[in-house]
Amino acid sequence: MRGCVSEVAVIEHKPVMCKEVIESLNLRPGLTIVDATLGLGAHASAILEKISPKGRLIGIDRDTDSLEIAKNRLKVYEDNVSLVHADFRAIDKVFAQLNIKKIDGILFDLGVSSYQLDSQDRGFSFRYDAPLDMRMDKTSYILAYDLVNNLTEKEISDILWAFGEERWHNRIAKYLIQKRALSPVTTTGQLKEAVMKAIPHGGIHSTRIHPATRTFQAFRIAVNRELEALEESLAKVPEFLKKGARVCVLSFHSLEDRIVKHNFKDNALKGIFRIITKKPLLPTRQEVIDNPRARSVKMRVACKL
Ligand SMILES: C[S@@+](CC[C@H](N)C(=O)[O-])C[C@H]1O[C@@H](n2cnc3c(N)ncnc32)[C@H](O)[C@@H]1O
Repeated sequence: MRGCVSEVAVIEHKPVMCKEVIESLNLRPGLTIVDATLGLGAHASAILEKISPKGRLIGIDRDTDSLEIAKNRLKVYEDNVSLVHADFRAIDKVFAQLNIKKIDGILFDLGVSSYQLDSQDRGFSFRYDAPLDMRMDKTSYILAYDLVNNLTEKEISDILWAFGEERWHNRIAKYLIQKRALSPVTTTGQLKEAVMKAIPHGGIHSTRIHPATRTFQAFRIAVNRELEALEESLAKVPEFLKKGARVCVLSFHSLEDRIVKHNFKDNALKGIFRIITKKPLLPTRQEVIDNPRARSVKMRVACKL
């Protein structure tokens, strides 16, 4: 499947479970498909290959840098593509703006992209020292800085536990409060250092992942209100689906997957959806070897009745 191979030489990007996504959307020429998390447009490019020449792709992302790159990548399809800078929680407004009444399928590939993680100045990663930002949408107001420096100890602890399943959530929250009483925590380097100091010595070496991974993930999810966005968007989607239209969601976090699972179940009980994946589909071993970002993905698919 040529479309699933990255054609952008400068920014290496491997779309996760691309073959499975394309198959699950049941694509054919002429369909109208929404990519709610366009990213760099790798899945979108593979979708367009199948729905062209007459199909239409609506690509949504809240990251303007990613949209710009995707626009370039999808240039050959420009007559068939509408790109929108928006939060997918406002999907109804996007459709109204584009005068779209019904669609044939929608894809959510959740979370941050490797491009965002690797952007040194965005503050998503502890690998680079940068201001504590972590906003996917640079025009939104709340930064990781605001949460780290203004929330109470309990609020921070709850975020670390709920969104990061961080075992040392209480200790990290307590340490952050003490540290910021002396001076604000302004950089990713300082946050990483605080986590390392808060965790007991044995804890630092006992995990496969870097000890700061869960803290960074938790603050990122909180800054971007990722779970609320998913819940709101999934609630709005069914009214726009044609009969037989597919919803495909790739999630990377147990809480995201739970939201998808419950949404699909509720809609199935109401006779709105048929669930195609009784159990979530997982990537092949080979894909995880080739693309470590795929290691925690779960894919769920439903069909509109
Ligand atoms: C994992 S990447 C998608 C990669 C994409 N499938 C590709 O092939 O290049 C997730 C993208 O979704 C975007 N995103 C995450 N949450 C969003 C939301 N609530 N609304 C719009 N875009 C969102 C991120 O900015 C990011 O670019």
